[in-house]
Amino acid sequence: MCGIVGAIARCNVVPILLEGLKRLEYRGYDSAGVAVLNASGLERVRSTGRVAELEKLTQAQGLSGNIGIAHTRWATHGAPEERNAHPHVSGGVSVVHNGIIENHEAMRARLRAKGYVFVSDTDTEVIAHLVNSNLQAGVTLFEAVRKSVVELVGAYAIAVVSESDHDHLVVARHGAPLQLGVGDGENFAASDTSALIQVTQKVIYLEDGDVAEITLGGVTIVDAKGDTVERAVHVSQLSAAAVELGNYQHYMQKEIFEQPIAVANTLEMVTSAQSISPQLFGAAAGEVFRDIDSVLILACGTSYHAGMVARYWIEGFAGIACNVEIASEYRYRESVPNPRALVITISQSGETADTLAALQHAKELGHRYSLSVCNVPESALIRASDLRFLTRAGPEIGVASTKAFTTQLAALALLTMVLAKMRGRLSTEREAGLLKALRHLPIALQSVLHVEPQIRMWADKFAQRHHALFLGRGIHYPIAMEGALKLKEISYIHAEAYAAGELKHGPLALVDKYMPVVAIAPQDALIEKLKSNLQEVRARGGELYVMADQDTKLTSSDGVHVIRMPDHAGLLSPILHTVPLQLLAYHVALERGNDVDKPRNLAKSVTVE
Ligand code: M6R
Repeated sequence: MCGIVGAIARCNVVPILLEGLKRLEYRGYDSAGVAVLNASGLERVRSTGRVAELEKLTQAQGLSGNIGIAHTRWATHGAPEERNAHPHVSGGVSVVHNGIIENHEAMRARLRAKGYVFVSDTDTEVIAHLVNSNLQAGVTLFEAVRKSVVELVGAYAIAVVSESDHDHLVVARHGAPLQLGVGDGENFAASDTSALIQVTQKVIYLEDGDVAEITLGGVTIVDAKGDTVERAVHVSQLSAAAVELGNYQHYMQKEIFEQPIAVANTLEMVTSAQSISPQLFGAAAGEVFRDIDSVLILACGTSYHAGMVARYWIEGFAGIACNVEIASEYRYRESVPNPRALVITISQSGETADTLAALQHAKELGHRYSLSVCNVPESALIRASDLRFLTRAGPEIGVASTKAFTTQLAALALLTMVLAKMRGRLSTEREAGLLKALRHLPIALQSVLHVEPQIRMWADKFAQRHHALFLGRGIHYPIAMEGALKLKEISYIHAEAYAAGELKHGPLALVDKYMPVVAIAPQDALIEKLKSNLQEVRARGGELYVMADQDTKLTSSDGVHVIRMPDHAGLLSPILHTVPLQLLAYHVALERGNDVDKPRNLAKSVTVE
């Protein structure tokens, strides 16, 4: 999604702004731009190319200034054309914006009536004109922005400069992330910490409704009520190296191969212990877990799939009723609240607008207990939840979520164990066995990565296809869904997942010799039923690609390609079976020459509805 960087310094800020944008590229964008103030006034450069393209343009133009704002845009209102790229300008005012202004049409009409001319299709342009119009009253830029944001309905993070004032950069947020970077005689703002760590580790997270005035010497923050407030300065733990590619070709590749260590880090505090306790999820977790009578999981995309796996675990092992809902559906559906349900939100970024809104909606309906499983410590979701579990996957840059998913599953497996133990459904022996399996998980993941050469051969065949089916049963059905999502989002091959038992209720009609069918075949209670489903596919000429456990006795034959999973992980089997599917999507996308880390039309953090 869109990214913001702002800076004020004694040096030329253009390289800082561009470096910041480069570090935000992973979020997905289709145009970029930068505006600075200098002796000539306000200068702006925009491009519909990559940030590298923008950089060349700024160099050709010799763009320079001590104060400026920059943006990567992921189109919502208006096509990805230069005239819609940020920064937007009104007179000497320039604005970058993340989010969506819902009342932009009414405001557009009002501003037009005042004589403002619109040159873009964006909702953002109304902010530039509005600030400009409020500045006409002779107030400071800070006051003009404060007056303007009161009129905005929707979600926004904005950064504003004005050629009438070279000493102040003004920012504001409501419903979209924005943070300040505290430097020494220079200060910054960005929508994501990763854009700031090139210049400072000291970060201030703005709250909803905050407006901040940034100068060389410091920052002044005013909250939604108009009171001047102090916000804590955090020292970010994010290291510049963690967001660098190292020896890998793509972030997705790096992140797939980081899974053993990411899972080991996530489980670090339990793997050395002899037993598990609810406190892993927060000081009050024991009390909360004792009172709950059900679980409601809310999430989007890959995180939703993690929730679907968790449902099998939570109902099957802990014996607690568990519902899983897509956050964007739940937030607008009339549902029956249960104050004793534990509302679990799952999110890599912790900034997904639908998940945040779903949690807010659940609270408004009277749900008392919330727990978030999230990968970003200072995210809005973590701050909005009573209980939390941080997956320690490290920054995930590739748009296709990989290590975030397997670490979410590891966290949810742990939660299941805690809940099962508290319900008296986990014997000491069983607990010890599961802890042993968790300790072994990073090693098991490492060995699954060795299937890569075989997956490459599969990828050769898939790259020619237009459609694919993914089949799984029971707890591996959500894994089939995750495999299909991975393939479609980066290879652009149409892929669907089905619970294998559903095959003959419709999708079997699609199967012919051009339809590759991927099947997840662990040695579990449903394996014989799954084998029958695979026969049904083969009988219609469908080509089978099967990931089978050792004991399944499934072997390769004409039209049947079997990869043997090196390890059988019992309860944790879904985590292992995910890896070959990630590798398959990665290699098919490579074969097809796609931009693996930044697939078309997609963004990393979906901070708008
Ligand atoms: O940051 P979140 O986990 O809340 O993001 C949710 C989805 O947008 C995300 O998982 C998306 O589906 C991924 N691109 C899938 O790879």
